[in-house]
Amino acid sequence: MTVKAAAFGYLQQMVKEQAGIVVETDKEYLAESKLSGLAREQGFSTLEPLVDQLRRAPYGELHRRVVEALTTNETSFFRDQLPFETLRTTLIPQLLAKSSRPLTIWCAACSSGQEPYSVAILIKEHFSRIASQTRIIASDVSREMLARTKLGVYTQFEVNRGLSGVLRSRYMMPVNAGWQTKPELRAMVETREINLATAFPPLPQIDILLVRNVLIYFDTPTKQDILTRMHRALGPDGLLFLGGGESTLGFDVGFERCTSENKATWYRRKETK
Ligand SMILES: C[S@@+](CC[C@H](N)C(=O)[O-])C[C@H]1O[C@@H](n2cnc3c(N)ncnc32)[C@H](O)[C@@H]1O
Repeated sequence: MTVKAAAFGYLQQMVKEQAGIVVETDKEYLAESKLSGLAREQGFSTLEPLVDQLRRAPYGELHRRVVEALTTNETSFFRDQLPFETLRTTLIPQLLAKSSRPLTIWCAACSSGQEPYSVAILIKEHFSRIASQTRIIASDVSREMLARTKLGVYTQFEVNRGLSGVLRSRYMMPVNAGWQTKPELRAMVETREINLATAFPPLPQIDILLVRNVLIYFDTPTKQDILTRMHRALGPDGLLFLGGGESTLGFDVGFERCTSENKATWYRRKETK
């Protein structure tokens, strides 16, 4: 094995152990590009000495930053549209008709926050009477992403991806770096550091859970374990949204697959024996 392959193997093992993420062997170039800035910051021109430093020290801040750097944070406002449309037209009205209890919505793996803010905007726009009691929990394993979510600052490019001019002027204010979500929107989103690959901290009963475009990074046993714990976190009839390329197919978990006329897909929690 070359030094390079051994260093990459160490990184693969660390990111799997710490965040459940499987980095494929043919993605070595990706690891290199994602970690080159951090390596340079530590005074190294290649990855090997950075890995040597990680190997020598007990797990700490630098290891955590390496794991974070190896995650993929691609996201956008109202990503894929259909889930948001179905929540607006059908699912939230159904939940509100069934119970007067305030809604709790969890965006697990929220990246830089566009997803929880899209949910907050949806609630404000179409269900304004429940906006002040609705709890939106935005979690991620990455502290950097959570700090971005909390701040709610987006570049013009990020805002253009999914937010109309009308919504931008209602819910964002101009700042030096681009746009920031208005304080009333930020007040609706509560950030929490939650690693999906380990036991969840105590959570309120969840009505709607968005865990989109993250299960693809985990292996089958990890997905099974996460879906089982998500089933427990949801209330009766709780709703689960996965990413476009993800499903519960092949997993022994109690979810019923639902689709709407507009082809949105979601999962409804069933009672298990
Ligand atoms: C591709 S983004 C998805 C963002 C958003 N859900 C969406 O669909 O647009 C994946 C996110 O999952 C997070 N992530 C990766 N492993 C995780 C883990 N073990 N626990 C929690 N979040 C994790 C990453 O930090 C990243 O922000």
